[in-house]
Amino acid sequence: MDTAREYMVRPMPPALSAAQIRDANTRYHDVAAQHYDSKWGIDFGELGQSQVTAKVRKALGREPGHFARSLEIGSGTGYFSLNLLRAGLIGSATCSDISPGMLETLRANAARIDVEVHTEPADAERLPFADESFDLVLGHAVLHHIPDLPRAFAEFARVLAPGGTLLFAGEPSRYGDRLARVPKRIATTVAPLWRRAIGAERARSAEHGDDAAALESVVDIHAFAPAELARNARAAGLRDVRVTGEELLANWFGWANRTLEATADPEQVPWAWRLYAYRGYLALQALDSKLLEPRMPAAIFYNLMLAARKP
Ligand SMILES: C[S@@+](CC[C@H](N)C(=O)[O-])C[C@H]1O[C@@H](n2cnc3c(N)ncnc32)[C@H](O)[C@@H]1O
Repeated sequence: MDTAREYMVRPMPPALSAAQIRDANTRYHDVAAQHYDSKWGIDFGELGQSQVTAKVRKALGREPGHFARSLEIGSGTGYFSLNLLRAGLIGSATCSDISPGMLETLRANAARIDVEVHTEPADAERLPFADESFDLVLGHAVLHHIPDLPRAFAEFARVLAPGGTLLFAGEPSRYGDRLARVPKRIATTVAPLWRRAIGAERARSAEHGDDAAALESVVDIHAFAPAELARNARAAGLRDVRVTGEELLANWFGWANRTLEATADPEQVPWAWRLYAYRGYLALQALDSKLLEPRMPAAIFYNLMLAARKP
């Protein structure tokens, strides 16, 4: 299962330095790594492979072809790279992340599904790789965590071989992020009624909050206008820059359901509800993809995708 990633993106708190934001990202994701795959329904089977391949196809606007050497930035537990390896779109995969905990989970996932990857702890702004050493530099849901984007993009361009491809997906759009607050507000209002209907008690974390929630508020630092992403790629010397949007109805549905679920004791959320949320998400994702994405401007979608080429 793959549900929409949802972020409450805030402007960078002025009191925090870039180093503190990077440190918060490391600590937050080290802890998140333990339950990350189940929280987001990350799948490494056929569904995961088809989801990831569809995103690559959408971002590029064509059939992907094959990339011999790939580098993933902020690879987390391996959602993109491991699925792309299994789908045969990439030859050899290097997975980098600022969080050693995420890379540990990634290595366990790779061993379980029997694929080979190279992992390297790395900050996106200082990549420990030689110039021109990858044919594909990619990432999913990571750019919005990076304090100095021009510096990171310069690094992506540096390590790409001439003719290589840059590809990012799952980045929150500024407008889409604002629109997504509506279903969240509605869900917060109806949550007590919903819990009564499904017979669940209020979650302890909803009452007291916790360290993870506090850190979450400092790790999500950007939401993007499409032109802003394109500008960063062009400023790094990349060409054929393309920014597209995906997921609108699916994302609203995901926001509403996750907001409801976060208020309830997870043990008491019935399986039938989870099935409904999962199937509903997939149905709306298909509707977004067929009806809305080809017709509406990128800016209104929740997730932005960026593709570019190094000349
Ligand atoms: C929302 S998670 C996405 C993980 C994975 N790409 C996925 O889609 O499942 C963001 C990832 O970016 C990593 N990250 C955050 N800041 C980073 C930075 N400055 N450099 C490299 N990775 C970073 C986090 O540790 C985390 O694994």
